[in-house]
Amino acid sequence: MIGVYDSGVGGLSVWRELYRIMPEQDYIYVADGAHCPYGTKPIEFIISRADAITRFFLSKGAEVVVIACNTATAAAVDYLRGKYSIPFVGMEPAIKPAALASKSGVVGVLATANTFKGSLYNNTLEKFASNVKVIEKVGTGLVECVESGNTEGEEVDALLHRYVDEMKSEKADAIVLGCTHYPFLEGAISRIAGEGVRIFNPAPAVALQTKRIIESLDSPKSSNSRYLFFSTGDTKIMRSIVSQIDPILSDCVFETVVID
Ligand code: DGL
Repeated sequence: MIGVYDSGVGGLSVWRELYRIMPEQDYIYVADGAHCPYGTKPIEFIISRADAITRFFLSKGAEVVVIACNTATAAAVDYLRGKYSIPFVGMEPAIKPAALASKSGVVGVLATANTFKGSLYNNTLEKFASNVKVIEKVGTGLVECVESGNTEGEEVDALLHRYVDEMKSEKADAIVLGCTHYPFLEGAISRIAGEGVRIFNPAPAVALQTKRIIESLDSPKSSNSRYLFFSTGDTKIMRSIVSQIDPILSDCVFETVVID
């Protein structure tokens, strides 16, 4: 059983990669919808939510937890690894592949305010981005759009122009999606960024890393995979995104829960 969580539905962009490469696993997904967004909340609060959600996963038998949220990874992964003995997989900002691929030497990064403040992001930048110019933009309002099922249209475009236009005028040819909600806006981001700009989403690499950990645990396979989807808020948009990932998933369990 793999526990996967995010402040909301964004982590489903990671879950879909896990499902694609390991459909045979059992999954329990938690969207902390009642407390979304995390991007501007105090770090102590994000840690206390990480703690409560991990206890919930353990009570359901999870053996691995994927923190499918850049903001929660930045705030809480060290705390969780220090406190619990199960493996935790976190999000890594895709700075390294973007910096390597950039020909113009300019890379744009879209993330939350808390992710930009964290040492995880800043250490990654120091290690892998010393030879490129990095344009950082906090994607204010984008998480709310995805949470309300709004991934295309005027509101999204207006917000994206605010963040992507400067990257474009500075000749960025690589954009890093530093928040797991943003891959659901990838179509709009690509369109606004224009041709020749590559978008970097770390979700496939995170899924592969999870697979390596699962294989090393060597736990018995369940004969009938179970996919459970919980939210501390509403489940409507979650159900709709999951059904778009694979229509057969629309019959899964979608439930609102209290996690304290
Ligand atoms: N999906 C999140 C992330 O990857 C959290 C966004 C938020 O809740 O502000 O950072």
